[in-house]
Amino acid sequence: MKEDIEKVLISADEIKVKKEEIGERITREYQHRFPLVIGVLKGAMPFMADLTRSINAHLEIDFMDVSSYGNQMTSSGEVKIVKDLDSSVEGRDIIIIEDIIDSGLTLSYLVSLFHHRKANSVKIVTLLDKPEGRKADIVPDIAGFTVPDEFVVGYGLDYAERYRNLPYIGILKPDIYRDS
Ligand code: XMP
Ligand code: MG
Repeated sequence: MKEDIEKVLISADEIKVKKEEIGERITREYQHRFPLVIGVLKGAMPFMADLTRSINAHLEIDFMDVSSYGNQMTSSGEVKIVKDLDSSVEGRDIIIIEDIIDSGLTLSYLVSLFHHRKANSVKIVTLLDKPEGRKADIVPDIAGFTVPDEFVVGYGLDYAERYRNLPYIGILKPDIYRDS
């Protein structure tokens, strides 16, 4: 699998340092607020697992799975709920955990949905931000790293459901796309 990677963009060590920093910040900002931390499946899974263990505050965890109608590499903006939350967001302080914000359409939908469901506050934490891809007016409250407008894989991010288990963020060799 690792032989398919052309270049490592963000190493496992860099991710580790960053999640500690973000975890400390959330610890300070959310003491005694019992936030509901919502991971967006499947991509946010490793970041969610690592980040929440760096937060020293009581919190609740939930997951949501949404799919946007589009092809493998871009989203169309029409979002469908595949798995909804178990918990109610009414009156809660929500922290959405994402792997990457590209067009921002997925998050734009989720933020409106949680406001509609009467959340007290909604904050966005993303490991990666790809600002050049933006179509919706979405700015993350916390972003780990800014990435260029290239397709990235690893640490939750997939190409055709593969590479989510890479411990770092990388760019695939071009022939991997060509051959599939
Ligand atoms: P938006 O709605 O912000 O959606 O366009 C973000 C979702 O799109 C996927 N995405 C990527 N997945 N490498 C990936 O593996 C990428 O470079 C990439 N850019 C966007 C991803 O599912 C993310 O949650
Ligand atoms: Mg995703």
